[in-house]
Amino acid sequence: MYKFRLRPRLFEYEKKFAKSELKILFGNKEEIISVQNNYFEVDSEYCIPKKMLQKLTYFKEVVLPNGERLIPDIISWELSTYNNKRYSTRYSSHGIHEYKGKFNPQTVHSLINQFLNFETEDVKIYDPYAGSGTTLLEASLLGIDAFGTDVNPMAVLISKAKQDSMVCDLDKFNDVWDTCIAKANKEWKQIELGVSEREVYLQKWFPIDTLKKIETLKLQIEKEEEFRDILMVVISNILREYSYQEPGDLRIRRRKEIPDQIDIFDRISEDVNKYIERLKRFKNVYKGKFKKNSQIYFSNIEYKSQQKFDIAITSPPYATALPYIDTQRLSIVWTKRGKPSEIKELDASLTGSREATKLKLDKLRAEMIENQANLPKKTISLISNLESSLDLKNDGFRRKATPPLMYQYFKEMKKMFQNLKTNIKDGGYYLLVVGKNKTTLGGIEFVIDTPGLLGEVAESVGWQFIGVEELQTYKRYGINSKNAVNAEGLVVLKKI
Ligand SMILES: C[S@@+](CC[C@H](N)C(=O)[O-])C[C@H]1O[C@@H](n2cnc3c(N)ncnc32)[C@H](O)[C@@H]1O
Repeated sequence: MYKFRLRPRLFEYEKKFAKSELKILFGNKEEIISVQNNYFEVDSEYCIPKKMLQKLTYFKEVVLPNGERLIPDIISWELSTYNNKRYSTRYSSHGIHEYKGKFNPQTVHSLINQFLNFETEDVKIYDPYAGSGTTLLEASLLGIDAFGTDVNPMAVLISKAKQDSMVCDLDKFNDVWDTCIAKANKEWKQIELGVSEREVYLQKWFPIDTLKKIETLKLQIEKEEEFRDILMVVISNILREYSYQEPGDLRIRRRKEIPDQIDIFDRISEDVNKYIERLKRFKNVYKGKFKKNSQIYFSNIEYKSQQKFDIAITSPPYATALPYIDTQRLSIVWTKRGKPSEIKELDASLTGSREATKLKLDKLRAEMIENQANLPKKTISLISNLESSLDLKNDGFRRKATPPLMYQYFKEMKKMFQNLKTNIKDGGYYLLVVGKNKTTLGGIEFVIDTPGLLGEVAESVGWQFIGVEELQTYKRYGINSKNAVNAEGLVVLKKI
């Protein structure tokens, strides 16, 4: 008899995932008996390899038929963050940056178990909207080959820094940091700020001393190739708090004053030291074989892979996406990932972007009326419904732009689904975690069933749409948007 004890305070979907993992473990051949609310028993003759049991996501303990007790790896990974909340999502290098909309790594971990049958050898995972690289890192921790793309250069940098953090020499990192900060402390007052587009822009957004400090530090960091990207990301994570950009607002809003806070050098030192400590603690408990993975800067729509992937796991942008570029524009400019004059264009290149001129919207609207992209029935009728509900007198430019932008979103997603088919092996799954949206036009509130509609769009280009699993209470990280519905769905597609 195998006994499995669930961890406390799981959401309903997590309990469902936990049970699915057990079903997969026992090859769907055994009955999973729920003895109590948080406790399962499986009477089985199978001898499940311990290394598979170690990969379970939502159990805090497994008792084997011979009475031996086993704690799944992820439990010790999480404990290494000393977090006593429900569970920690910041273990290893996951916590390096608070990227908005990022995945909760446990979800990725469980999806890998469920859809790859706990197999980690010789498999390849793809994340077309990799963001801060949660899928890539979780795959790395499980020893899996993974690859991702994103159009946000900061996302690419963060993913890379997460990977670098896991393979670097942490004692050396400590020493390098001490040297960099000591030199910066000594030299910042002498630095001359320049007149390039980048520097003039940064001077508008940071108090002069703050800018001198981070520029001096950057000069030091740039000399340290092994740790450069990691440090850039740790610093980027707090830049907005020290700038005139209102940190609580995802879009650009200038504030008059920056509240009193600790000196920026002290704050960065605190964060770097805490980060190194956390990595050290993680390394002490990690027994796996870390597989360093890569990410490139590319649009998913154009990216054609040389290799075929077994599975894709992603969280795509919403129909009315988050302003990923605007939110991070100070970091993009400071890290030299983009020039100030390129930000607008970069923002417009995001799927789901609201950045559009009147001319572009007129063109899109004409295309939309003829349904030139040949979108499936439900999707195009929703868009037509939105368009006919518009109150031409009272709805402003933003609301009027919603139907054509919605059309553009589904058109781009259709292209992505087409393209992704060439990157995934036959029989492989494509899993998307995405939420519904709300929008109000002509005084009517519409709930846009993005997961269901995406399933239909994918089906129209030849994917098998297996269904949408509700992930009640799953909330994207850091999003309190009034346009998001407080639940996401898992869209399950299969390449046939
Ligand atoms: C919800 S986030 C992904 C977050 C990611 N799962 C994580 O854990 O950090 C969606 C991502 O899609 C990216 N994106 C938007 N449009 C894109 C496009 N056309 N091609 C590639 N990436 C795009 C955004 O930059 C953003 O990073």
